[in-house]
Amino acid sequence: MKAAEGVDRIYHLAGQVAVTDSITDPLRDFLDNALGTIHVLEAARRAGNDPVVVYGSTNKVYGSLEDVDCEEEPTRYRYCDLPMGIPETHPVDFHSPYGCSKGCGDQYARDYFRIYGLRTVVFRQSCIYGPGQFGLEGQGWMCWLMMASLWGWPIAICGSGKQVRDVLYIDDLLDAYEAGVSNIRRAAGQIFNVGGGPGNTISIWKEYGPMIERLVGHPVNVRFADWRPGDQKVYVSDVRKARQLLEWEPRTSVDEGIRALSDWLATHEATIRQVIPEAGKVLG
Ligand SMILES: NC(=O)c1ccc[n+]([C@@H]2O[C@H](COP(=O)([O-])OP(=O)(O)OC[C@H]3O[C@@H](n4cnc5c(N)ncnc54)[C@H](O)[C@@H]3O)[C@@H](O)[C@H]2O)c1
Repeated sequence: MKAAEGVDRIYHLAGQVAVTDSITDPLRDFLDNALGTIHVLEAARRAGNDPVVVYGSTNKVYGSLEDVDCEEEPTRYRYCDLPMGIPETHPVDFHSPYGCSKGCGDQYARDYFRIYGLRTVVFRQSCIYGPGQFGLEGQGWMCWLMMASLWGWPIAICGSGKQVRDVLYIDDLLDAYEAGVSNIRRAAGQIFNVGGGPGNTISIWKEYGPMIERLVGHPVNVRFADWRPGDQKVYVSDVRKARQLLEWEPRTSVDEGIRALSDWLATHEATIRQVIPEAGKVLG
């Protein structure tokens, strides 16, 4: 972080990224995410050139959202009373070591603006996907399920497969980061939910599975396993604050984005197998 001295902005994305791994090794998760983030903030504060710090937070800070009423439909769960999704004013409720460590970074980032005037912006990201992603079972589920389906790796779906997420295409996330920096007067010290919003949702297997089967051209077998601790039945971001203050909104439809992901995977098999050569064996 010595490099902070010469830069005008820092995008802080590094960290331990899997809920599952955070449960296996909570201390490692804390060191990477909570302690790691305060190191980044301190380096930025001491840099002397007042850099903007963008922090990649997560929807997991809202916990399992058990208090939010959902109804069950044939292929998905749906919020009963929140058609626009979860706003930033919804109470946080850190659940899982990952939720705690990321939430800790989220709150420190916000507080460094209040206490030290460091120009931080917190983006609570929903599920990010797209070309260039190396998904694993614990993180990057859209990519992981597509890869495993393409190459015949065993797939376990935790829960009913009707869990709904609003998914955000990578280019749209990068636009949000840029909008945060270019509107820093309005964005400094603010928290934004960024996801695909109500217009870009999908259930993780009951709806995504048939799309994958159409794209790969064959049926895909999965086994169903226990729910993951703290898993949200539905998470959909209310993106109205980002729209209002940053003039940002997601532009890539789920269909378009998934097609781009699948095209990229199909043309990069050798590279992906080099990066995660044993993925099928180890994670299956
Ligand atoms: N991908 C998503 O859907 C999603 C959703 C919400 C939040 N996020 C957040 O976005 C960020 C990026 O996630 P990603 O999906 O690109 O995962 P990723 O695994 O591709 O990126 C994380 C990077 O952090 C690095 N890293 C881990 N520990 C480190 C440490 N102690 N010091 C320096 N580098 C370290 C890893 O080497 C890796 O390159 C993370 O902070 C994650 O919590 C991602």
